Amino acid sequence: MNKLYYIAFMLTIFTTSQSALAEDFANIISQRQQSFKAIEIFFDNFEEPDSDIEWQIINKESAKLAKATQQLPNLFPIGSDKNSKSKEKIWDNKQDFNIRLDKLNSAFNNIQQATQEKNQQLLIENYKLAKSSCNSCHRKYRSLW
Ligand code: HEC
Repeated sequence: MNKLYYIAFMLTIFTTSQSALAEDFANIISQRQQSFKAIEIFFDNFEEPDSDIEWQIINKESAKLAKATQQLPNLFPIGSDKNSKSKEKIWDNKQDFNIRLDKLNSAFNNIQQATQEKNQQLLIENYKLAKSSCNSCHRKYRSLW
């Protein structure tokens, strides 16, 4: 089975668990962690599309991730570092953190656009751009335990 069908399946699970109560940090934390997991699954399974159906799958998944990454800045309320892997430092540097999230969101918007145009170059460019954002943000803002 093509790996892409697997990510389509995983992301269905992730979108059905999007409703959280505003004041419930446990829920919010779990939501943002699920979004990051879905992002990781997308990158782990990514293959350059070479058929219409593969373009369509990436189109659908990138649309979900574009939405998820747009919501991410709202899923980091002050005080929600506890019982999560987020460092307290995020809230001392919220602007820098949000700029990084915004870049990730733009990359997914561009990936989605690339799938509409079947533009391989735009797709790969933004795939690389998004992928290169992970480690530097994690080093600064994610704890290992
Ligand atoms: C703007 C900063 C930022 C960027 C960019 C970012 N991450 Fe993260 N990521 C975090 C933070 C903060 C956490 C910890 C979330 C928590 O536990 O509260 C995290 C957690 C994760 C997790 C663990 C989720 C869990 O269940 O504990 C995975 C997987 C992950 N990120 C993957 C990625 C991948 C893949 C990319 C790049 C495509 C990426 N992240 C880009 C900040 C970022």
